[in-house]
Amino acid sequence: MTTAVDLIVYGAGQLVTLAGNGPRRGAASGELGLIVDGAVAVSAGQIVAVGASSEVRNSYRAPREIDAAGRVVLPGFIDAHTHPVFAGSRQDEFERRIAGATYLEIMAAGGGIMSTVRATRTASLEQLVGDARPRLRRMLAHGTTTAEAKTGYGLTTVDELKCLQAIRILSDSQPIELLPTFLGAHAVPEEYAGRADAYVDLVIEEMLPAAAGEHGRSTEGHGSAALPLACDVFCDEGAFNLEQTRRILRQAQDLGMTLKLHADEFACLGAAGLAAEMGALSADHLLRTPPEDMAAMARAGVVGVLLPGTPFGLGQRDYADARHMVAADLPLALGTDLNPGTCYCESMPFMMALACRFMRLSPAEAIVASTTNAASAIGRGHDLGRLQRGYAADLLILDSEDYRHLAYRFGSSLVHTVIKRGEIVLSSSVEQPAPNTIQEGRP
Ligand code: NIG
Ligand code: FE
Repeated sequence: MTTAVDLIVYGAGQLVTLAGNGPRRGAASGELGLIVDGAVAVSAGQIVAVGASSEVRNSYRAPREIDAAGRVVLPGFIDAHTHPVFAGSRQDEFERRIAGATYLEIMAAGGGIMSTVRATRTASLEQLVGDARPRLRRMLAHGTTTAEAKTGYGLTTVDELKCLQAIRILSDSQPIELLPTFLGAHAVPEEYAGRADAYVDLVIEEMLPAAAGEHGRSTEGHGSAALPLACDVFCDEGAFNLEQTRRILRQAQDLGMTLKLHADEFACLGAAGLAAEMGALSADHLLRTPPEDMAAMARAGVVGVLLPGTPFGLGQRDYADARHMVAADLPLALGTDLNPGTCYCESMPFMMALACRFMRLSPAEAIVASTTNAASAIGRGHDLGRLQRGYAADLLILDSEDYRHLAYRFGSSLVHTVIKRGEIVLSSSVEQPAPNTIQEGRP
């Protein structure tokens, strides 16, 4: 007797399951849970069985069976940190940085985040949604099936809500699921120059309650399945100090939001320690995090989100000290930090390529950081980022037979097929023939 399901993917030369519980850390940071000649059975968008191809095919049958023909099959990537909603672009600043100006100098002169804020405030909701679509298409082409997505280029209540709405519309109208994060404290807007505390008051008294309300309305009908909105603060030199950050996060917590932080990107103000103290989901960047803050994060269960595209994008040579973090038992995730200033890049595999070369993650650790650990960094460790029974059927078939190719090769996408919630949402055949699809099942 075989059980009927919707889809079977079989014949994976390496099925990267990431099976287990909770984020991976320490000596387990690179455990992939590989099955040779593996298969996955999918029903109603969820994984119902994972195992050897012969076992799965003996127990299940499906109207659609895909032969992965020896290729790698793994969970869709989860991009744990993106700023995908913005208008305009900043190629002029890129050129100035190459000529020697620094990111903080450009920001202090009114460029940087504020120049994108000016463009974003002028843009309509429709324009913001339309401008973000091709970015999301490129993310999908590089294997991202879920992404965290921040506001932060509006910096007025109305414009921040517009960005939040754009994220929701985008999440509902293309394959990548977006988890919104409110980042009203991304920069002190120019109309508040010299009055940062007054802007923080506005964030606390007006923006956060409005964002929580907007998010609550958008998730009506999903009942208890609806996830809380996350709140992030750019705690750094030229942005918000530790005390301002703490005040904002307290209010966010009181409103039921989860917490994230831009921590130690340019200067260490103690943000990673604050993330530990307040039980944040993640602290991100961590270029200048002292060992005691790494240890505090590990103890508090905070995920460290590393964004190697940012120093690369800025042409810098210092990267986060990932080896020290692994030794400190800190679970690590990766994200692109997709944004028009420091890292205009949609590709998670390119982040893996950078993480291996400049932070000395192993290729396996880079995959863990882009799947199950990234799921934990966005509060979805229970249903995303693993090929395991009960998890979402978000999976990739690569144009490769060895998982190490993901980080070893770079500059083009090795993603052959993308499946989101059990549906094929992208399929390319490059030079190789497409995997065999048996439409009518087996006799
Ligand atoms: O994560 N650091 C703050 N935010 C972005 C940069 C945003 C921008 O320059 O537009 C980052 O690097
Ligand atoms: Fe960022």
